[in-house]
Amino acid sequence: MSLRDLAAAGGVRVGAAVNDQIFGSGDEHYRSLLADEFNSVTAERAMKWSWIHPEPDRWDWKASDELVEFAEAHQMQVRGHTVVWPHWGTPDYITQCADADALRQHLVDHVHELFSHWAGSVARVDVVNEPLHWLEGRPADSVWRSLLGEDYLAEVLTVAHQADSNIELWINETHTEVIPDKHDLFTRIVADLVERDLPLHGIGIQGHQLYPDFSPGPPDPDQLYRGVTTFSDMGLEVAVTEMDVLAHPTDPARLDVQGRIYGELVDAALSVDACQEVTFWGLSDAHSWVDEHFGPDRAPLLFDREGHPKPAYDAVTAAFASRARRTPVG
Ligand code: XIL
Repeated sequence: MSLRDLAAAGGVRVGAAVNDQIFGSGDEHYRSLLADEFNSVTAERAMKWSWIHPEPDRWDWKASDELVEFAEAHQMQVRGHTVVWPHWGTPDYITQCADADALRQHLVDHVHELFSHWAGSVARVDVVNEPLHWLEGRPADSVWRSLLGEDYLAEVLTVAHQADSNIELWINETHTEVIPDKHDLFTRIVADLVERDLPLHGIGIQGHQLYPDFSPGPPDPDQLYRGVTTFSDMGLEVAVTEMDVLAHPTDPARLDVQGRIYGELVDAALSVDACQEVTFWGLSDAHSWVDEHFGPDRAPLLFDREGHPKPAYDAVTAAFASRARRTPVG
């Protein structure tokens, strides 16, 4: 059984972030691996503001439309990623905006255009990505926070809900499972939004495991479990949205160690009913943002450079199989 079949048997989603260049080149091997093994896709870049709406009067739908059409043709769901991202992926006309009303108008225009274009085909959207500082328990500085104020998350949720109340709205954050201060602050922010009844459907825990290159702590399934239960206890759906695990280049047992870590993390997440998705940040080790940002040969994904399954694939498959045994669909 493929990963996709096992996920379907448990009524959950298994996703992959899709590299627009490889996908757009028509690489058949890449496309068939995607459709055979996954039932959800996230655009790795193509839906980010800088790519899809680089200038106020210019939209570039090509890459994301191709992905959405592919997903429809192969009965896969689409996770829209992302609208407001304090750190990156945002064009200058937004980041350099100096007027709160003008910024609000850009937000409304952008979200309305996106959501009407995606109605019926994009199930859920990470409307805010990484509202906190990458490595510290404090809000990220951005034009959103400085012009719209501390409560801009509520404003983004409200605008998005007005645009289309059928699209699930998510907030996505990274490293909360390895930085306790960040977990605590994020928990308080989300609890406040829930208390005020804002239209928040779910929380994405990205799940990048970049230790030791970047993350301050090693992968920790207990902390991931704690993160998932924290938000599920608030009545929210939870997803692991961007998982990858660095395999240390000099460790001879690295692929087995990586497999064990993947298995434990995915098991911890899927052991909670409210967690209905695990998405991996890429397909094979041939194409990963990790190479680009943290150095080559970290082999972070489930399939090797040739597209063959690694020990990580087997471990993740076992975790999905155990979820399917626990909560079979039908
Ligand atoms: C990354 C992409 O993988 C890269 O291709 C791009 O250059 C930068 O963004 N957290 C996120 C993702 O939410 O959108 C980021 O994706 C990785 C970190």
